[in-house]
Amino acid sequence: VSGFFQLTDTAVEVWTVELTASDPIIQALSRVLSAEEIEKGQRYRFDHLRHSYLLGRGILRHLIGRYLGVAAADVRLGSSDRGKPGVDMPTRLKFNLSHSGEVLVIGFALDCEIGVDTEVMRPIAEMMAIAERFFGSEELEELKSLAPAQQCVAFFRCWTRKEAYVKAIGQGVFESFDRFCVNFRADEPPRLISIGNDKEAAAAWSLHDIDPTDRHLGALAYMDRRRTIKVTPLVSPSAVIDLVS
Ligand SMILES: CC(C)(COP(=O)(O)OP(=O)(O)OC[C@H]1O[C@@H](n2cnc3c(N)ncnc32)[C@H](O)[C@@H]1OP(=O)(O)O)[C@@H](O)C(=O)NCCC(=O)NCCS
Repeated sequence: VSGFFQLTDTAVEVWTVELTASDPIIQALSRVLSAEEIEKGQRYRFDHLRHSYLLGRGILRHLIGRYLGVAAADVRLGSSDRGKPGVDMPTRLKFNLSHSGEVLVIGFALDCEIGVDTEVMRPIAEMMAIAERFFGSEELEELKSLAPAQQCVAFFRCWTRKEAYVKAIGQGVFESFDRFCVNFRADEPPRLISIGNDKEAAAAWSLHDIDPTDRHLGALAYMDRRRTIKVTPLVSPSAVIDLVS
């Protein structure tokens, strides 16, 4: 991993990190957490959930600290009333994160709200019911028109692109998922097609696929013309400690 921590106005850097580690690494990373974060971590009764939380926060703090040139423990994090996390310090740095199946994805950009989402690709029995509930009518028609063998990948492409967009605007579950449309045919570059039928508003956005492993699909969304996207290979939490030091 080289050439990271060099964000410009025209770049996005995406970190993909394993969300498992030995106890000493978990302890090393969680040493920089705030008292509130440690307290929140202790509320997770299942070891794997507590470990994922501590690792995730520790990795996030180390990376942000390195981008800002401050100690990881001194990074102040906050979140919006809708739950979008952010840096609570004067900075141009924006980020968003997603985790699924022991993989963490964190995207960083300057002056541009971004959203990321990743999901482990798996067969979902109620896939069509979910699509009927959350997808726009064009998306649903497109999904139904595909051969059954292509539908699972297409569903996750559509889902992760939609999630990345609602996370970029910070709305999460508060946004109506059928109010905007994304494309997801395998032969087209990812893009937002319309927001409330407005195609021009959608054209101000960029979407990219971020697939952290061969089991994960994912997407990145931000409101700007296409930037240069740099994605790390999947790195371990201990590699993150080395890379920021
Ligand atoms: C919470 C939500 C933002 C993402 O949830 P998710 O996909 O299950 O989980 P992810 O791992 O991708 O994202 C969770 C992270 O998003 C961030 N997040 C939370 N609220 C957010 C918001 N309003 N905006 C942006 N990011 C947010 C947080 O960092 C959170 O992780 P943390 O609590 O460990 O810090 C929300 O959109 C959600 O619950 N979505 C699932 C609902 C659904 O059914 N979608 C239909 C798909 S078509």
